Amino acid sequence: MKADLLRSGVIVAAIAVHGAGCQSKSSTEAKPVSAPPTASADFNDPAVCAGCHSAIVAEFATSMHAAAHETADPIFAAMRTFRIEREGVKLSAKCERCHSPRAADGGKAATSGVTCTTCHNIADVVMAEGKRGNEVLMPGPAGVLRGPHDVAAGVATIHGVGPALPAIVDGTTVCMACHEVEKNAAGVVTCATGMEHDRNGASCASCHMPEVATANGAASTRPTHRSHAFVGPHAAWSSQAPGAGAPGLLAAATTLRGELVGGTLKVSLHNGSGHNFPSGFPGRLAVLGMQGFDAQGAAIWQNIKTDPMKEHPEAVFNKMYVDAAGQPVLAPYGVTLTRDNTLKRDETRQIEIAVPTAVVRVELALKYWLVAPLAAKTLQISGSLAEPRVRLKATVTR
Ligand code: HEC
Ligand code: HEC
Ligand code: HEC
Ligand code: HEC
Ligand code: HEC
Repeated sequence: MKADLLRSGVIVAAIAVHGAGCQSKSSTEAKPVSAPPTASADFNDPAVCAGCHSAIVAEFATSMHAAAHETADPIFAAMRTFRIEREGVKLSAKCERCHSPRAADGGKAATSGVTCTTCHNIADVVMAEGKRGNEVLMPGPAGVLRGPHDVAAGVATIHGVGPALPAIVDGTTVCMACHEVEKNAAGVVTCATGMEHDRNGASCASCHMPEVATANGAASTRPTHRSHAFVGPHAAWSSQAPGAGAPGLLAAATTLRGELVGGTLKVSLHNGSGHNFPSGFPGRLAVLGMQGFDAQGAAIWQNIKTDPMKEHPEAVFNKMYVDAAGQPVLAPYGVTLTRDNTLKRDETRQIEIAVPTAVVRVELALKYWLVAPLAAKTLQISGSLAEPRVRLKATVTR
């Protein structure tokens, strides 16, 4: 069913490409794709765009797309090194397909992650059956950058432009090129954000690229633009990303509440994101901690003291993979997904647990790990990135 939906979305996208322009957001006279006036600039380098698209470049610099290369993301680098040691150096080309797709161009791109050109210098996104890796982002003519609007030839004095790209206009198709689904060598699904998402619902861009004001001085004549910070969980670890330290996007999409009824604490957690929670990289972990206080304010109860999986597995939202011997392994080496306790899209999870009746107040805290402790140990990731952050809180009183 889901696969059918996706396939029909694919067909729509393919048809729309041939009618390019019809779906555009503005009606500026669109000429066919115009050749770049300047061919010498390294368009893979966002610094080249900063003179005119300053707001977008500044937002983008805080994003994990800008940091998707192994020289900028220690978690990716650790997994890449770990796997290359086991599977050989040829593996790096596989990672490049999504983490640094323009690396082969050399220059700035050689050490860059997902750059401006990755999404804007494309002719099309072809969602080939079965194989949906990054080869589906088909590079467009050199120096031609297309976005969500019809841009008339000659308007940009440094690069070529063209009619709006349907794959960008819909705010989802371009993302699917890398976020749809990944399977490991054993055919087990590891990352499936695109599969979890409803193609007929809100687009990826509607949540991850909210409309924000454009400061004076940016080239665009429009008063607003779509944020290129691509906010996700990493923002909570970053000092510069929008929403850093603040609950941000997660809080906007998630509700956490509870009630104390006699000797029972009833908690409900609603996932209003566009996909599972957590989604994407299968090493993520979220744990709902509960701490109970008596009338004097003394902490007298908690659901987890040392080992969440032993003490209160219902409060642990994660995926677990095992090898043929049943031992926990990193997702790429799993032959079975033994546990998937992530919340589905739009799911409200109810958790009930017994509490001492002397508890009059409970503090709930949703803790989030970018890499679950066992995986962090295996990959030798330590320091701040291995530490959890409290992403959501709620207080329950009698
Ligand atoms: C089909 C595209 C694709 C390929 C190929 C790919 N990745 Fe990724 N990778 C992603 C996406 C998309 C994310 C972000 C998911 C998220 O944030 O939850 C990601 C995230 C990660 C993360 C988490 C990074 C962090 O900072 O939290 C690691 C680790 C990772 N990938 C390792 C690898 C390695 C190693 C390879 C090569 C063997 C690889 N990936 C190949 C798409 C891909
Ligand atoms: C000299 C100024 C200038 C520079 C430098 C520049 N652009 Fe542009 N760009 C423009 C103008 C002007 C437009 C058309 C007006 C608009 O759409 O805001 C435009 C339009 C675009 C569009 C289409 C936007 C839409 O609304 O559909 C994209 C995508 C784009 N530029 C990307 C880039 C990237 C990526 C770089 C860096 C490699 C870059 N530009 C460098 C001036 C510039
Ligand atoms: C991961 C893909 C991706 C990357 C990387 C990316 N963009 Fe975009 N960009 C988009 C999408 C999608 C939109 C349209 C969002 C919408 O309107 O729904 C967009 C819109 C734009 C627009 C039109 C702004 C507006 O809303 O009017 C400009 C200009 C632009 N991008 C420039 C850039 C520049 C410059 C960079 C690099 C610093 C960049 N983009 C990197 C996907 C990307
Ligand atoms: C060329 C491949 C590619 C495309 C296209 C792409 N992404 Fe990503 N995206 C990645 C990779 C790789 C990562 C993981 C980077 C890392 O953690 O090292 C990522 C990470 C993310 C994250 C997680 C940020 C965080 O804080 O962990 C979000 C959110 C995201 N992408 C949204 C989008 C959206 C929305 C689109 C479409 C407009 C899109 N991506 C298009 C490759 C891509
Ligand atoms: C209704 C809003 C909404 C829509 C639609 C949506 N997302 Fe998200 N997404 C979220 C929220 C909320 C989070 C959690 C952010 C956080 O942890 O700070 C998230 C997290 C993510 C992450 C990081 C997952 C992780 O735990 O590592 C990625 C990658 C991502 N989204 C990509 C996408 C892509 C690709 C699409 C479209 C297929 C999409 N999202 C559609 C709201 C949305």
